[in-house]
Amino acid sequence: MTSSNYNFDDLVERKDGNAVAQHGFKNYIFTEAQVAEFTYPDEELIPLWIADMAFASAPEIVDAIRQRLDNPIFGYTKILDSDFYKNFANWTRSRYDWTCKEEELLSTAGVIPALYSLIEYICDANDKIITFTPAYSYFKRSADYHNIDIVYSPLVNEQNEFCMDFDDFREKTKDPKVKLCIFCHPHNPTGRLWTEEELREFGNICIENNVTIISDEIHCDITRTGVHHTPLAKLFPENENIITCMAPSKSFNLAGLLFAIIIIPDERLRKTWKRKHYLFENPLGLAAAQAAYGKGGPWLSELSAYLDENFSFVKDYLAEYLPEAIFKVPEATYFAWLDMRAYFPKKENLTFYFAKHAGVILEGGNMFVADADGFMRLNLACPRSVLEEALERIVKVCK
Ligand SMILES: Cc1ncc(COP(=O)(O)O)c(C=O)c1O
Repeated sequence: MTSSNYNFDDLVERKDGNAVAQHGFKNYIFTEAQVAEFTYPDEELIPLWIADMAFASAPEIVDAIRQRLDNPIFGYTKILDSDFYKNFANWTRSRYDWTCKEEELLSTAGVIPALYSLIEYICDANDKIITFTPAYSYFKRSADYHNIDIVYSPLVNEQNEFCMDFDDFREKTKDPKVKLCIFCHPHNPTGRLWTEEELREFGNICIENNVTIISDEIHCDITRTGVHHTPLAKLFPENENIITCMAPSKSFNLAGLLFAIIIIPDERLRKTWKRKHYLFENPLGLAAAQAAYGKGGPWLSELSAYLDENFSFVKDYLAEYLPEAIFKVPEATYFAWLDMRAYFPKKENLTFYFAKHAGVILEGGNMFVADADGFMRLNLACPRSVLEEALERIVKVCK
């Protein structure tokens, strides 16, 4: 499909030998011995794993970076004026009917480093963290790094429709050691966009039990057309213990520019953050973020329409060629979360299986912490032709 202003069918080559999607999986998700068993040559592998996109970023953003390059001084940079806040506040107001206060907005090189820092600032050695599973792996890794126990509340799955189990979650948060919940909204990997009702029940349980929430909303801009995200913090304006993470990185394919936003309403925690966290910005990342929130709306709308069609394509393709795979088009994210248990024994390492036999690099099973055996995640943020080829190869080795 060629959309009116941007072409998401374009096959954009990643010329950078350091592009993680293309070159970085070998020492990250596979051992050398596993890679040696791959049946496709490197140049034919299709990366549908890490959460960035195979699309060129918005030309409005690329132009802004170019303009910034015209001023060739890249010294220490920090958000000092209100321009960025105004842009970001306009963005969240128009999309979510919500804004944070200017003083609450902090920036960071990424949500991952922010998680590591926040756990250190919020938790003591004997505290526990709770999260829903399956989960984004860094939720566990950041807790493990600090030797903080992590408690899981498994999502309930009915035909790939995922819900929080509030009875289980309530019971587990009653443990006074549980201090922090790392919450993913929209949820990676399932793509669930929690409803206001669900968010209220979840939030109230945390408040009743004095549990601080990090609401990782990094995927919030990527929703199916017509579906609206509600920031958790919007529903609890008086509560200072909800930290919100947002970023232009997923929405506009800017992860390598290392810029994300952390909104911390609690003044004491903010002071700790400012005392301990590295406070400078990458000037190109900041220029890109400004342009993304200021001018990126039309590009994002067209991207969403393209992703909608990718999801429909996958749904139809699976219905025809892999009818036992359970899949539901998610409300948000560019991830398809597939239940493949009809085709594989629960313990099959799907990531390795498909890399080896189909030359498709995807993420599955225990890469998502727990409760994910037999499931795999496909990143659909790629041109349809790439997706079609990947699905063909996947189907071929499932039979
Ligand atoms: C839920 C979630 N949080 C955080 C990140 C990474 O954030 P960053 O690149 O800003 O460190 C990802 C990337 O996949 C993610 O899915």
